[in-house]
Amino acid sequence: MQIGILCFIAVLALAESGAGAAVLSAKDTRDAQKLYNLKCAKCHKFYDPAGYTQPEWDEWMRKMSKKSKLKPAQHNLLSSYLETMRSEQSK
Ligand code: HEC
Repeated sequence: MQIGILCFIAVLALAESGAGAAVLSAKDTRDAQKLYNLKCAKCHKFYDPAGYTQPEWDEWMRKMSKKSKLKPAQHNLLSSYLETMRSEQSK
């Protein structure tokens, strides 16, 4: 019963955040930056996502999230963060 309610809330949250471009809260942005520094920047410098096309970037994210052993939730958070950066820079 408890789990059913939790799932329902999770679906609601997804539906809310799934509308339009990914907009992250300030906390999500901080978490994503931490994640990048912790997981990605230990191997190499920060690669600017705006320097890649979307398919190129998706491919790198797929490869790199394997390398950094990201959990699915971490992968999603980081993807949304980097996508937000891309769209902000291309404005
Ligand atoms: C275990 C080390 C390691 C980790 C962790 C890692 N990378 Fe990488 N990354 C590499 C290596 C090595 C390359 C060079 C290409 C290759 O061999 O796949 C690379 C290449 C890249 C490239 C392409 C650079 C180019 O040549 O254009 C991007 C973008 C990138 N990484 C992003 C990330 C992101 C984002 C994360 C975190 C989710 C991450 N990497 C985590 C080792 C790592």
